[in-house]
Amino acid sequence: MSKTVKLEASLACANFRNLEADIEQLKAGGIDYLHIDIMDGKFVPNFALDFGIMDTARKICDIPQECHLMVVEPERYIEKTVAAGAEYVAIHYEATYHVQRALQQIRDAGAKSGIVLNPATPITNLEYILDDIDMITIMTVNPGFAGQKLIPAMLRKITDTRELLSSTGHDHIDIQVDGNVSFQHIPTMVAAGATMLVGGTSSIFHKDYSIGAAIAAVRELVKGIEAAQ
Ligand code: DX5
Ligand code: ZN
Repeated sequence: MSKTVKLEASLACANFRNLEADIEQLKAGGIDYLHIDIMDGKFVPNFALDFGIMDTARKICDIPQECHLMVVEPERYIEKTVAAGAEYVAIHYEATYHVQRALQQIRDAGAKSGIVLNPATPITNLEYILDDIDMITIMTVNPGFAGQKLIPAMLRKITDTRELLSSTGHDHIDIQVDGNVSFQHIPTMVAAGATMLVGGTSSIFHKDYSIGAAIAAVRELVKGIEAAQ
């Protein structure tokens, strides 16, 4: 499996007192995507970003945006999310009765489709919708909050997902990891088959690193694993 690993910055973890400065550093560091967490206070017990922030970020930079909808019945917002500029729209498997239809709706609206699995949701649920997916997100924590600890079984889930994709001829699908994507866990995640890394307080916005130094450190870790493969 030789896919370029993409680095993403979880924008909700940025410093909103000076968003422009953080975005400048992300750009200078060559981050691949801005990960936009949208929360509705119902699917998850928290609120986060919105279409206004997407618009603001787009005015400051041209870094592509990838949108993680943590909302119930995400089909209500798919067209709006694409219109707000998302290259990817990711919806939760648990958030709608009609997952396949919602994934189709994302592609029809002109974006790449992502399906997100909460920690307890089995990957067997993906078997009949693999042709409708561009990206699978393994939540390595329960969604809704930054700064949580990785659930150890999720590392096995990444391996199992990559095996499912390889054995069914779907290796082109990206596996994204979201939650406690730390300097410690990144090598294991990439070795297991993750190709999109969402960095929040555990890496890209780590309090002890500048954004530029954090991006460089993540790239170094990824390079090490790629070289070993
Ligand atoms: C949830 C978010 C955050 C993000 C935060 O969907 O996208 O949880 O991962 O990063 P960490 O876990 O590093 O604070
Ligand atoms: Zn997210």
